[in-house]
Amino acid sequence: MKKVLIATEKPFAPAAVEQIKKVTDKAGYQLVLLEKYTDVDEFKKEVSDVDALIVRSDKVTQDIINAAKNLKVVVRAGAGYDNLDLDACTAKGIVAMNTPGQNSNAVAELAFGMMIYHIRNGFNGKPGNELRDKKLGIHAFGNVGMFVSEIAKGFGMDVYAYDPFVSTDEIKKKGVKVLESAEELYKTCQYVSLNIPANDTTKKSIGYQLLSLMPKDSKLVNTARKEVINEDELLKIFEERQDFSYLSDVAPDCIDIIENKYPGRYVFTAKKMGAQTSEANIKAGIAAAQQIINYFEKGDTKFQVNK
Ligand code: 3PG
Repeated sequence: MKKVLIATEKPFAPAAVEQIKKVTDKAGYQLVLLEKYTDVDEFKKEVSDVDALIVRSDKVTQDIINAAKNLKVVVRAGAGYDNLDLDACTAKGIVAMNTPGQNSNAVAELAFGMMIYHIRNGFNGKPGNELRDKKLGIHAFGNVGMFVSEIAKGFGMDVYAYDPFVSTDEIKKKGVKVLESAEELYKTCQYVSLNIPANDTTKKSIGYQLLSLMPKDSKLVNTARKEVINEDELLKIFEERQDFSYLSDVAPDCIDIIENKYPGRYVFTAKKMGAQTSEANIKAGIAAAQQIINYFEKGDTKFQVNK
């Protein structure tokens, strides 16, 4: 009997775990749960004899891979797989996958939740602003970017995107204006929604050069990864531009400085909340379980990210 471990420091909604169990039960696989673990040794112990692993942002390090004696497949139930040590997986012949698109709507909705909360001053009774007719720039038009564009149009925003990896036609089909460079996007748009992955090229790539181009009352909305921001340069912008705000799903490392020096110009979540909905957990969790079964039963590697 194949054994599947769900290791989630930030657990899935109970309804999602129930649904995942139905999928694994049907396939005759055993499901084991490790939730809210506080010590990586617990993770190492539980992973030691499983055939498959489902995680969220949990770090699957070389250490975890070494401990996972029987592991053949690991699925990151979500989009960004910067938490998986792909080289360590590849070296042991472990297939690594993600579940692209499954939690993207939840992430996109949070971007707007943060925007509305911010421009209505945290609902403190003082007059705020509206999103209608404002320019929104979507930096990277993947699954989240696409959902952001749909919601933005509902709000009556003027929507732009820049993504060198997605064809102009594909973006235009969604009723979104295409810009040819990141510089143009930041220069044009008062609101920028950051939806780029965190990798060697993008880490610390958003800094002074781009942010200083943004128009008056600019707002950077980051539902991607805090690591893509150059925080020294972010602080420089905060200091120079009294009209700049930063809304981020996960606070930056420099949170103390921003909280102390720039009140009213930020919104930070305590924990990554973008995908933290029942719906997203169910979709990403079921997809992860199904992909594991499809891999073992049919050799399906469609969503493999370490090919
Ligand atoms: C993702 O990459 O899918 C999101 O950042 C969600 O991460 P989470 O599963 O840790 O909430």
